[in-house]
Order: sequence, then C-alpha cells, then structure tokens
Amino acid sequence: MTERIIIFDTTLRDGEQSPGNSMNLEEKLLVADALDAMGVDVIEAGFAMASNGDFEAVHAIAKRTKNAVVCSLARAKTADIERAAEAIKPAKHPRIHTFMSTSPIHLQYQFRMSNEEVLELIASTVALARKYTDNVEWSAMDATRTPVDYLCKAFETAIKAGATTVNVPDTVGYTVPDEYYDLITAIKNRVPNIDKAVISTHCQNDLGLATANSLAAVRAGARQIECTINGIGERAGNTSLEEVVMTLHTRKDLYHFTTGINTQHIMRLSRLVTAVTGQQVQNNKAIVGANAFAHESGIHQDGVLKHAGTYEIMTPESVGLTRSNLVMGKHSGRHAFKDKIKELGFELGDNAFEDAFARFKELADKKKDIYDEDLIALVDSRATSKADPILFSALKVVCGTIGKQTAELSLIVNGKNETVTAEGSGPVDAVFKAIKTLVPHEAKLKLYQVHGVTQGTDAQAEVTVRLTDGPRIINGHGSDTDTLVASAKAYIDALCRLQAARKDVEDITSVVDVA
Ligand code: KIV
Repeated sequence: MTERIIIFDTTLRDGEQSPGNSMNLEEKLLVADALDAMGVDVIEAGFAMASNGDFEAVHAIAKRTKNAVVCSLARAKTADIERAAEAIKPAKHPRIHTFMSTSPIHLQYQFRMSNEEVLELIASTVALARKYTDNVEWSAMDATRTPVDYLCKAFETAIKAGATTVNVPDTVGYTVPDEYYDLITAIKNRVPNIDKAVISTHCQNDLGLATANSLAAVRAGARQIECTINGIGERAGNTSLEEVVMTLHTRKDLYHFTTGINTQHIMRLSRLVTAVTGQQVQNNKAIVGANAFAHESGIHQDGVLKHAGTYEIMTPESVGLTRSNLVMGKHSGRHAFKDKIKELGFELGDNAFEDAFARFKELADKKKDIYDEDLIALVDSRATSKADPILFSALKVVCGTIGKQTAELSLIVNGKNETVTAEGSGPVDAVFKAIKTLVPHEAKLKLYQVHGVTQGTDAQAEVTVRLTDGPRIINGHGSDTDTLVASAKAYIDALCRLQAARKDVEDITSVVDVA
C-alpha cells in the first residue's frame, strides 16, 4: 500500500505571525474552513497563549473543523500548555504542539540553560501536554544547528515522555537537501524509540531550499510536512504547501506517497490567503503564480496547442485553475449565482450567501463581464458590516494636470454623517488626507498596493493598505471598479480593524520573540 504523507498546514500560525500577514477572526475562520475542505491533515490554528485574539481563533477553529486535527502551539511553559489545551478542547481531533530550542547558540545566548536542564524541561512539558491529549507534537527549535548526538537524546526524551510526532525544524533556513537527508536518516537510525513517533519537517526558506529540503526529508523517512499556503511565514517564508503537494502528485514515479489533498482546491486557497493578507504572490511563483501556466514563446505555444504535455507537466485544472471564461452578468439570477459559487468550491450559509449575492448585483451594475476571479474576490473579501464604526458613503475626486487634486469625501463615523474636502499631491493622497481629517489617528501608512482582479480597463481594483500602530501591523482591503473608491474602502477597513485590535488587550510582541 502507498504510504500517506501528513500535510500539516501552519498558514494560521507561522504564516500569520510574519509581518503584514495578520488576519482577523473572520478571515482565520474562512481560511481554516477552506483548508479543512481541501483535505489538510493538521491545521495549526495559532498560538493560544499569544493573545486573547489568538486563543479565540484557535478555540473557534477547534469547534467548527470537521475533519482535520486542530493544533495550538505552546512554548515549554506550564501556562502556555494549559492555555493551548483549553483552546483546542472542543476539537474532534486535538493536538498540542510544544517546542524548545536545542542548539548551542540558542541555549547559550537566548535561554541560558544547560543541555541537562533542557532535557528535564522537555520531559516535564511533554508529559504535561499528554495529560490533555494523546496527540502531542514536540519540536526541537533550531534542530539543524544542533549536534546530532544531543538532538537524538532530545527526541528520545520527548518520545519517552509521550510525544507522538517529533519535528526537526530548520528554524533559520540553514540546511541543504543532502545534509537534511542525512540528519533525518541519523534520527531514524539512532533514536531508539523512534518507531513510536512520526518524524516531521518544518523548513524555513531563507536560502530558497524549503521545498527541496522537505522532500529530501520525506525520502529519508519523514512522514509529516509542515507548510503554508503561498509559502508565507517568518522572514523568507516556509515550505509552500502547493509546491510539496504538487511535487508528490506529479512525480509519483519518484515519491511513492499519497496525500489527502484535493489539489483542485489549491488556487482557491492561494487566492484566499492573498486576499486576506494582501500579499500578492510573484508572477513566476511555482504552481500559483500568474505565469505558472502561461506560454508566451511561439515554440512553446505551438507545442502546447499540438499536445499540452509537450510543455505542461501538470494541467492547470489539476490545481483548480479555471480558464478565465465569461461567467455571469447583471441578468444572472440567484440560482445561477448559487451554482457558480458552489462550482468554485464555496459553501456559504444563508446570511453569507445573501450578502455575497447583494454585492454581486452591485458589481454587475458597474461591470459588464464578471469572471470567476471577480466572484472569488467578491466572496472572499470582507463584507462591510453596518456595525463598523466607520462606513464609506460617497467620494468625488478631481485629478489630472489642470488645477488642484482634491477629494470630497463623505463617511458615517460612529453613526454621524461627515463630509470634508481635502487637497493632496495626487488623488490617492487627497483621499487619504480626507479620511485622516474625518478620523484623526496616529497610525502610519506603510504600504499601499493596487492589484487588478482581472484584465481590462473595467477590472475591479483590489487595494491593500497597511498601517502600523506601535507594534501592531494592520492590513485593510477594499475592492471596487473605481480604484480610488477601493483605496478609500481599504484605508477605512484598516482603521476599523485597528479599532477592533485595540480591544484585544494582549500584546503580540512576545510571540515574535520566541518562535
Ligand atoms: O521555525 C521553528 O522552529 C518553529 C517551531 C516552533 C516549529 O516555528
């Protein structure tokens, strides 16, 4: 029988904890539901101890996830493990993932602990986690810079205390495939009780080797891959789920393994994570980049037209890429919209469906041709709630080369209609100054990004605005056929999220320090 590789997705933990990728509860639930529907085996839903918001997200994901194991990260501390246990309590299949550094550089400078003290801590914290669930993962942070004898001792200790998965993180993205292969082989051969645990990989992409390293580990005996959608994660990111899964799928001749992933969901997940984080993937990104299936040169086009296999090693359909066909317009009714949404892989409850349908009708009034990409952006984008403290109302902009650039903007701020006219150096600057006049704030604008959802001059613009407010990094999103309206909506969205984040009193900076 073909062996199965466990796909452990950490988009909502390692991915979310990297700059600019923070998601609110509603967005985390959207991503978690889509991951579960795609067939990932484990969802690392967050780091419950990090903040009240993280705890609530892990707890809510644990409650609703139908198939996947739901996991929370926890440092080697009693309070962390107890908080993680509380957060995952409602899960059908709960897991606690606890970790401790093992490398000399971390122990000497960061933790100031001896090897022996760390072994004792591993034994006691894993044993504590096992009191709450029989599914416990233990990670040796900075494993690839740890002497192999000590690393094997640490894994032996963790398994003896009850760890059922042992993870070998390349925390700083330092290793290379041959070396990582040898390390996993050594662990397999030298840890006496290794048959009682699954070996896992967790590779950062600092040298661009995360996917190659994860696959080398699988060849050496690892059976769990930790990865993220679009490869988001600390610094240069993490192993990209779509790359490892499609390699296993495409090169079955080399890798005799299966995964539980329905690969046709990959594009939807990629677009969803892009939409909620505002981090576009580069055009030439493997599998999910805009050019991944585009053939430009004459000789390639000629070959593909004669036989797709001449230049395509996998089909666009296998990753869920629908050829951008005209799908809907303003005459399309509720029934057609429902069918199309289902075909695109969404399952919406009654309220979410009604809300999406209303926004579809609004869009169809402005844009003649509505493509699959428009519908995906529409369903995945956050619906403005009437309860938001700031609501967009109207905008008139004067721009061009004659006269001053001005924005006349009306907002509803805490239930009150307010209008102001502001000048700026350019129309976007004028719009943002108008917003700042109506909603005075100290947050700093760090990113303004516009992305066309489809091609053509009537395409919807998707705008991301990133604000920083002390340690907080907040992304706001807005889409509209008018780029300036989309920009205003994105800025307002960021300000609404900022106000909500301030209510989540815990500070997330301690999280960034430790993992
Ligand atoms: O990179 C790392 O070492 C981690 C562990 C906590 C798995 O994220």
